[in-house]
Amino acid sequence: MPSVQILLIEDLAEDAQLIREALAAEPSAGFKLTHVDRLVNGLRHLGEHPVDVVLLDLKLPDSEGIETVVAVRARAPHVPIVVLTASDDTALAVEAVQKGAADYLVKGYVQVYPSLLARAIRYALERRRAEAERARLQRQLSQAQKMETIGRFAGGIAHDFKNVLQVILSLAWLIRSHRQDDRELMANVEELVHAAESGSGLVQQLLAFSRQQPLEPAHFDLNEAVREISRLLQQLVGEPVRLQLELLPEPLMVRMDRTGLEQILMNLCANARDSMPQGGPLTIRTARRTADEPFLDAHPGLSMGDYVGLSVQDRGQGMDPAVAAHLFEPFFTTKQLGQGTGLGLAVVYGLVQQHQGCIEVETAPGRGTTFHLYFPRQ
Ligand SMILES: Nc1ncnc2c1ncn2[C@@H]1O[C@H](COP(=O)(O)OP(=O)(O)OP(=O)(O)O)[C@@H](O)[C@H]1O
Ligand SMILES: [Mg+2]
Repeated sequence: MPSVQILLIEDLAEDAQLIREALAAEPSAGFKLTHVDRLVNGLRHLGEHPVDVVLLDLKLPDSEGIETVVAVRARAPHVPIVVLTASDDTALAVEAVQKGAADYLVKGYVQVYPSLLARAIRYALERRRAEAERARLQRQLSQAQKMETIGRFAGGIAHDFKNVLQVILSLAWLIRSHRQDDRELMANVEELVHAAESGSGLVQQLLAFSRQQPLEPAHFDLNEAVREISRLLQQLVGEPVRLQLELLPEPLMVRMDRTGLEQILMNLCANARDSMPQGGPLTIRTARRTADEPFLDAHPGLSMGDYVGLSVQDRGQGMDPAVAAHLFEPFFTTKQLGQGTGLGLAVVYGLVQQHQGCIEVETAPGRGTTFHLYFPRQ
């Protein structure tokens, strides 16, 4: 069991001894105590060493009362504080809890029941863990809801636009077939068709993001498919980028839309290429993964079972957290105007969702990027 680092800020040697003995009564708990006798020393320790729980006396030579709690909170906002009071000063203790202390203990009680202290420490740690977990789930939920909302919005627009563009294209084709002799008009109509078709291309990508692209799933071996698509990918990324395949030796059967898989890999590889203007290695790997608890926790909505992993790794510029947070949103791009539409990863996201899969991203500035995709194994 990992040890629990406890910082005791207490000026009275006698009380400190009491706490030491109470903690020693629980040798299996892994408590490691550091004792300081001034607030300033405690704050210094908090700045320099990892601490799991602070035991805090509210009557110190250099700080008294609730200000002491406030100062410790400000220095270490995530470390739970258990306040130690001398007499049964409930009002002060309650105020301390309101100011962010996790709990309070009356020293006299600890003397009589040493196990109270260990229990208070364990509760404080457990509560902190539960809070962190709740915050993580909340963030995840907001992210999922945001993508859902953008998806519906983009899908709605794309759907209506598709019809509008269809009318424009049909009429342009009609004019083209009737007025072939008018060369000037034909040149304009060609431009019109061209513009409407590229609009259709964008609309198609938005539909893919909002999961409205019809799929034609088929059974195939992912390794085999990646090997075949890789020729196309090498052409896409060009010479200075070296595409390497690290595929599992055994077949990995999936049920996927083959064109969708191509779209996914092309978008990921195009991004990898753009992140390595001087070239470099681009590695595609396959793997197996069983959905264990942490995996299902991280990706709510996925089912138990076996998954295949497909990852695309570059050694490019990587991303900072601000960019990574918006990665999959349609029209999010850091590229210059005209160089990227910001739809590539939105398409990848939509397609992966449509295949009941999920995506994890590992990235840091200057450290390259790896996209891990997981799909149900057949
Ligand atoms: N492998 C990568 N390395 C570094 N940054 C990346 C990588 N992949 C994506 N990004 C960042 O995410 C942004 C969004 O990517 P996305 O593929 O959606 O759009 P885009 O590449 O900018 O444009 P498009 O794909 O539509 O041409 C990129 O502009 C870039 O900032
Ligand atoms: Mg892209």
